Amino acid sequence: MHISTTLLAGGLLSMQGLVLGAGISGTSGYTLVPVFNTKKLSGSDLLPTVQVINKPLVDEDGVTRAAKGHFVTAVDSTMFSVYPPIQGCGYGLTTTSAEARYRGCSVAMNMGFFDISNTTHPHCLGAVVSDDVLIEHDATGTIHFGLTNDGNWFIGYVDNEFLASHTLASLADRCDSTGSCANDSDLPWYFRSLASGQVQLVNKGKNYVNESSGVNTFTTEVSGRTAIGLLKGGRLGMVQIDGRTGQDGIDLFTLADVMVNLGFTEAINLDGGGSSTTAINGALASLPSDGCPDDKTGYFGCERAVSTIVCLHSSPQELVVGAI
Ligand SMILES: *[C@@H]1O[C@H](CO)[C@@H](O)[C@H](O)[C@H]1NC(C)=O
Ligand SMILES: *[C@@H]1O[C@H](CO)[C@@H](O)[C@H](O)[C@H]1NC(C)=O
Ligand SMILES: *[C@@H]1O[C@H](CO)[C@@H](O)[C@H](O)[C@H]1NC(C)=O
Repeated sequence: MHISTTLLAGGLLSMQGLVLGAGISGTSGYTLVPVFNTKKLSGSDLLPTVQVINKPLVDEDGVTRAAKGHFVTAVDSTMFSVYPPIQGCGYGLTTTSAEARYRGCSVAMNMGFFDISNTTHPHCLGAVVSDDVLIEHDATGTIHFGLTNDGNWFIGYVDNEFLASHTLASLADRCDSTGSCANDSDLPWYFRSLASGQVQLVNKGKNYVNESSGVNTFTTEVSGRTAIGLLKGGRLGMVQIDGRTGQDGIDLFTLADVMVNLGFTEAINLDGGGSSTTAINGALASLPSDGCPDDKTGYFGCERAVSTIVCLHSSPQELVVGAI
């Protein structure tokens, strides 16, 4: 069957500010936050913005280091997408900037973790939904960030059963070839976009690292970091900090403090280290820590190929999903 969908504008929602869902307990549950209401905005006010972060901060280990990176905000959820590598999850990796050029992103950051040890099939870890299509069905264990078809941001834990009943494909199964659906009233919302991270940084406006699952020794290590979350009113926010593991960058406790200070109400940590990247208009804007092949001087930092990215377009995206 063929279903044509248009991304819901935030303006359709009147429940701005309401937090729905079961709440997050540390290892389970989820929260739905209505997307920003864009009704009163137009033109360039709808576009994502990028600010540069450049501030000395005292880390968990008591050492003062410069936190250098990017703070991105976006109000229009119809310009938000999650993309797998160009070849698809598990078949290859793509640099954030190359992926951003391919997908037409005005701002992009790396997103989910992947199986870096499997060189032939570097699987995307966690569940991945990209522009309504379920790409990776491995939702066990970690915290996810996503967008629903009915205009909510999703933050929380997803198991495979929940995932299977909250995808467009599972809903389309209930519809006939004319597009008329059985049991309309109990059709649930479905994921428009979804990918996973590790460690919930902020919950209800507070540093939540100590309460979160997924904390390990890397949590207190300074490194390059990328994080995504929500600001007041359902604005999307992302923070990317440059770093080299163990030398410079930021640890997750300090990153969570930074995000609380920036006004995040909810946030999760994404893939970091050498994966941490910001691309603006398809060009690398961050300072990656990986060395470059064939660089005898050691002066250069090269962008790591990663799995999923967050893509912020410069115009609303209309999704046409065919042949489900
Ligand atoms: C890599 O993934 C492929 C495909 O799932 C699998 O067959 C293979 O065993 C994996 N290799 C390693 C080293 O895990
Ligand atoms: C519709 O709901 C009824 C009652 O809950 C159920 O028996 C039936 O299987 C449902 N049909 C579909 C297509 O889901
Ligand atoms: C996290 O826990 C450690 C050890 O109990 C404590 O020292 C620290 O202050 C806590 N941090 C936050 C942000 O609550």
